[in-house]
Amino acid sequence: MAKPRVEIAPPEGKLGVLLVGLGAVSTTFVAGVEAIKKGLAKPIGSLTQMGTIRLGKRTEKRVPLIRDFVPLHKLEDLVFAAWDIFEDNAYEAAKKAGVLRPEHLEPLRAELEALRPMKAVFSREYVRKLDGPHVKQGKTKMELAEQLMEDIRKFKEEHKLERLVMIWCGSTEVYLAPGEVHQSLKAFEDGLKANHKDISPSMIYAYAALKMGIPYINGAPNLTVDIPAMYELADQMHVPIAGKDFKTGQTLMKTIIAPGLKARLLGLNGWFSTNILGNRDGEVLDDPASFKTKEESKLSVLDYILQPELYPDLYSHFYHKVRINYYPPRGDNKEGWDNIDIFGWMGYPMQIKIDFLCRDSILAAPLVLDLVLFADLAQRARMKGILEWLSFYFKSPMCAPELYPEHDLFIQLMKLKNTLRYLMGEEQITHLGIEYYQ
Ligand SMILES: NC(=O)c1ccc[n+]([C@@H]2O[C@H](COP(=O)([O-])OP(=O)(O)OC[C@H]3O[C@@H](n4cnc5c(N)ncnc54)[C@H](O)[C@@H]3O)[C@@H](O)[C@H]2O)c1
Repeated sequence: MAKPRVEIAPPEGKLGVLLVGLGAVSTTFVAGVEAIKKGLAKPIGSLTQMGTIRLGKRTEKRVPLIRDFVPLHKLEDLVFAAWDIFEDNAYEAAKKAGVLRPEHLEPLRAELEALRPMKAVFSREYVRKLDGPHVKQGKTKMELAEQLMEDIRKFKEEHKLERLVMIWCGSTEVYLAPGEVHQSLKAFEDGLKANHKDISPSMIYAYAALKMGIPYINGAPNLTVDIPAMYELADQMHVPIAGKDFKTGQTLMKTIIAPGLKARLLGLNGWFSTNILGNRDGEVLDDPASFKTKEESKLSVLDYILQPELYPDLYSHFYHKVRINYYPPRGDNKEGWDNIDIFGWMGYPMQIKIDFLCRDSILAAPLVLDLVLFADLAQRARMKGILEWLSFYFKSPMCAPELYPEHDLFIQLMKLKNTLRYLMGEEQITHLGIEYYQ
């Protein structure tokens, strides 16, 4: 094995996982980790646990598991804490979320009951469809941030944690455009003290995390850490940030299929996507203001992948529509339909229909695990700021302001694996392969 290019602190001790929101995704994630630890389930869908990485030439046959290649924390080292606006412990919350069946939850009952959420920072102004009693009070948003930091300190001490990672698995907040208060750390801190309306609860959590040197990952499309004030704080505290919006059902399919169409130079006239889902996330997204945040996240994908400016004959006129319909009978078992109108040789039209009967939280849970482990690895490798190499996991990948985001799932995976090779001092894989024929 090559010598690591950068010094990576070993994954010693316990890693605290701070979950903001203890709903469908968080409880499915925690239950899955506990089930895996007990040998009741396999970590299906998790790149860190099941994925491999090829090293060197194909003839060398070196293909270790990623978790044997890079120094990641073991699942046994993870300790969970959460905040939510409801008092339900993780067992009750998982039952209400209705993702996992009773026969899968019962064996994990003790572990899940032990996870009781702390009081949340929440305001209905930012998630209009929800209201709950388990909420912190404070005169200013800065005071609320300090209360969160106190929660974190207590959790760290109580469990003798070495390090922590925070991940937003809370509801999607209403759409916020970047404003003055987001432009610098100074403006943001003044805004916290003055209760500025453009500072949402998710930003207060993120501020608390970064201020304490804890990496922050954003699983929803909220702006949160994707603003200059947070870049500045992440830089100052030397902490990694990543986001936004877990790439799971329909957008995952989109970023698998669109690169294929482009690779074969097949044109696109239209892509109509609609979903029905009946979980709490669906209910929150029924509010046009929260849906707008999600819609922005879902719509941008095709333009970036198809590059109409480079392929005007193929992609300059396509019609793209995304709909989410709240339909309670379906619960977490979403159905996503795509109708794709494409055209080929001599302009002849063709159609592709996708009907993905997916389970949102089943798709999201392994992403939470990978993101937590990779964000912690990044911190031990002294990386800071936006972790663009984790774009693989997001619908709206954050990237440096002067770049456009990379949405193609296969390029994202290559970027991720090449980053791991880079960290560990292994050669990059170009797939050139000419040396085998010379
Ligand atoms: N499941 C997926 O495939 C997927 C994909 C992409 C993004 N997401 C996003 O992940 C998030 C979680 O999804 P979910 O299905 O678990 O939703 P959920 O509604 O089941 O859970 C969200 C939880 O967050 C809590 N919450 C809301 N605001 C909070 C706050 N300020 N502080 C603490 N807790 C708060 C809610 O009470 C709820 O329990 C949503 O924003 C969703 O849009 C999910």
